[in-house]
Amino acid sequence: MTDSTRLNLADEIVLGRDFMTLSQHVLSQVGTFSPEAYDLSALMGRIGLAGKTIARHLSRAGLVENVLGVTGEVNVQGEAVKNMDRYANRVFLRAFEQSGLVCRLASEEMEKPYYIPENCPIGRYTLLYDPIDGSSNIDVNLAIGSIFSIRQQEGNDESGEALDLLQSGRKQIGAGYILYGTSTMFVYSLGKGVHAFTLDPSIGEFILSQENICVPERGSVYSVNEGNFWQWDEPMREYVRYIHRQAGNTARYSGALVADIHRILFQGGVFLYPGMVGHEDGKLRLLYESAPLAYLMEQAGGRATTGKQEILDVVPDRLHYRTPLIIGSSENVKVVESFLN
Ligand code: AHG
Ligand code: MN
Ligand code: MN
Repeated sequence: MTDSTRLNLADEIVLGRDFMTLSQHVLSQVGTFSPEAYDLSALMGRIGLAGKTIARHLSRAGLVENVLGVTGEVNVQGEAVKNMDRYANRVFLRAFEQSGLVCRLASEEMEKPYYIPENCPIGRYTLLYDPIDGSSNIDVNLAIGSIFSIRQQEGNDESGEALDLLQSGRKQIGAGYILYGTSTMFVYSLGKGVHAFTLDPSIGEFILSQENICVPERGSVYSVNEGNFWQWDEPMREYVRYIHRQAGNTARYSGALVADIHRILFQGGVFLYPGMVGHEDGKLRLLYESAPLAYLMEQAGGRATTGKQEILDVVPDRLHYRTPLIIGSSENVKVVESFLN
């Protein structure tokens, strides 16, 4: 006689793994079956869907029209908009239309927040995002990412100015990124550790691959665009000269923040995008690049600073506000600080 409710141990383990999907994990993180928990689970599921849609589009680059190349437009940052930037921006908007979840989206590619008025009576979240991070990697088939940050919407925002977004990164209730690499990964935190999922394309689901990631206290990687060396202040140059003199350090810089920080999250080290002559605040934008990644790094036990202030304490004065960024293993960040102060 066989017991049809049982499998052998190996099959049970595989099944258990396959059923820890992203949406399921979010519910277990929130710890209740409240309406809010279901909203967050659905919200994360929609971000995951946006990620899967973008990954599918990327996998056909070079085979179909309008995946590679530029649109001919320039965005609010003064950067050439790539076809993928525009497509991915639109994917996120589409993922939340008629979702009832998100009232407002703000992105690197849009000068002002985008409202979905029909969602606003019930969906009190704002999603901030960088639809494609590392755009210069698109046309050469290298790793890129998407970054997101979730905030509770405060007040009625009748002016449409989104002034409630001009608060520190401590106001984030969740953050994460999707990495389009050799596999597609989804990494997120809701303030209870950092968790990574890998897309299993055969079932179209993000499956838990690592829970409670802890960034090593120190690491040998430094990740910075040294082509800007002569644009930095002297203390930053002195730090990099010091790194050059230490045996065992190794440089890794891909041109996509998500990919570089993913490496550091798992293996330790430090990523830097310092201020430069004429661009004292550097390049990276606080609300949808530095702050969500700082949130993840702190949750994993690491740190993120501008060199003067913790990234999560910085209060922006506009939506597309930029800050210098030094992020990674706590010991490595401390060494950078010892040069700056
Ligand atoms: P984006 O593609 O969203 O504009 O971001 C690119 C960012 C970041 O991902 C990367 O670390 C950095 O810009 C690269 O800039 P440099 O080419 O100046 O090094
Ligand atoms: Mn970016
Ligand atoms: Mn971008």
